[in-house]
Amino acid sequence: MDRIRIVGGNTLAGTIPISGAKNAALPLMIASLLTSQTLTLENVPHLADVEQLIRILGNHGVDYSVNGKRDHQNGNASGYSRTINFTARDIVDTTAPYELVSKMRASFWVIGPVLARMGEAKVSLPGGCAIGTRPVDLFIDGLQALGADIDVDTGYVVAKAKNRLRGNRYVFPKVSVGATHVLMMAASLARGETVLENAAREPEVVNLAECLIAMGAKIHGAGTSTITIEGVDELSGAQVRVIPDRIEAGTYAMAVAMTGGDVLLEGAEPDLLEAALDVIRNTGAEITPINAGIRVKRNGAGISPVDVTTEPFPGFPTDLQAQFMGLMTMAKGKSRITETIFENRFMHVQELARLGAHITLSGQTAIVEGVSKLKGAPVMATDLRASVSLVIAGLAAEGETTVNRVYHLDRGFERLEEKLSGCGAVIERISG
Ligand code: EPZ
Repeated sequence: MDRIRIVGGNTLAGTIPISGAKNAALPLMIASLLTSQTLTLENVPHLADVEQLIRILGNHGVDYSVNGKRDHQNGNASGYSRTINFTARDIVDTTAPYELVSKMRASFWVIGPVLARMGEAKVSLPGGCAIGTRPVDLFIDGLQALGADIDVDTGYVVAKAKNRLRGNRYVFPKVSVGATHVLMMAASLARGETVLENAAREPEVVNLAECLIAMGAKIHGAGTSTITIEGVDELSGAQVRVIPDRIEAGTYAMAVAMTGGDVLLEGAEPDLLEAALDVIRNTGAEITPINAGIRVKRNGAGISPVDVTTEPFPGFPTDLQAQFMGLMTMAKGKSRITETIFENRFMHVQELARLGAHITLSGQTAIVEGVSKLKGAPVMATDLRASVSLVIAGLAAEGETTVNRVYHLDRGFERLEEKLSGCGAVIERISG
């Protein structure tokens, strides 16, 4: 199994190109199931989760082709992300089997488009990062509100809507990104109007709505908590660009805030992560939005402690909580980090402690007592964002840190070692 070896202590300086967002690319790819025509997605990041979803879509009958090898258009100087065409001419199988869905929670989301287009779907209960129980009750309730008959049987959710889904009003009892994606896709092909209230406002929801609108859907209000969808009989192909990854941008901004230095996050969009940028600024880093992206700089003065509570967008994202905790381990004082989205998203705590961090847990709050230095050690983590928090801490620690179980990083960070070593970090992948 691959490992990442880091020798800490260098400041970061240079340019890091920000990739297309994993969490936007995945629902856009799933939207291809809604039409027999081709959906072309630009700026799709090269990630293990994207490859896994391509396999899952392939099982339903989606063909794909990659345009050239690299996407140099539209100012994507990185040349990393790709343009991919997805065509679901016929849905050949309405079942998403356990072997495929158990590897990644987002693959459960195929239930929306497959049900809406085919009148039936049988999808295994999902897997994904071990960050909490992550039930699917909101998907079931919401699809039932649109008229679906649903049974949960031997690990599968079996949904039927023989005479098409019907528009309805649905109030989410809790904000859910995935359930908002699924109901928006399903309602696009339902009969009549659907109103989703207390919907997720994440930029990835807006990107999906833009995609569906380009495919012919009638959607208003995406990005607010009330989304209205007037169902149409069919959707067509379209060409849509995946938004830049705000979590990747926030992660590298925190890395610079921790090591010191001066880095341009090329292509990052400040509007997508204002809450996180404000917090990073309060730690003492200079954040400057410029045309080319976001410039992050920290010189001299140490890291100030800042308290943070995770919230749905536009609040501070749970997907940056672990990285922020990494940063706070070397702050000049005590900070409190409260996780409100997932009940078990603190696996990085004990691994950060291996590097010398002082963190105590009290329910859903981590109290971080900053230390003046961390020392490198072998570490590992069981989810994507926890793993990258260890990378950030390793960059600032004295000596050598080895991060094991790199496949978690490969799920969500495109060419991590290359991007960081390009800015002066000593970081390499060790195979085997
Ligand atoms: C998305 O997950 C992201 N995944 C997650 O990113 C992100 O952490 C999360 O949104 C919150 O921002 C993708 O976009 C692929 P939710 P999702 O439904 O949609 C509860 C990463 O590291 N809930 O918004 O699965 C749930 O348990 C990943 O890239 C129910 O109770 O998250 C959680 O407590 C990890 N019942 C809360 O809602 C349901 O039916 C929010 O989850 C659905 C969710």
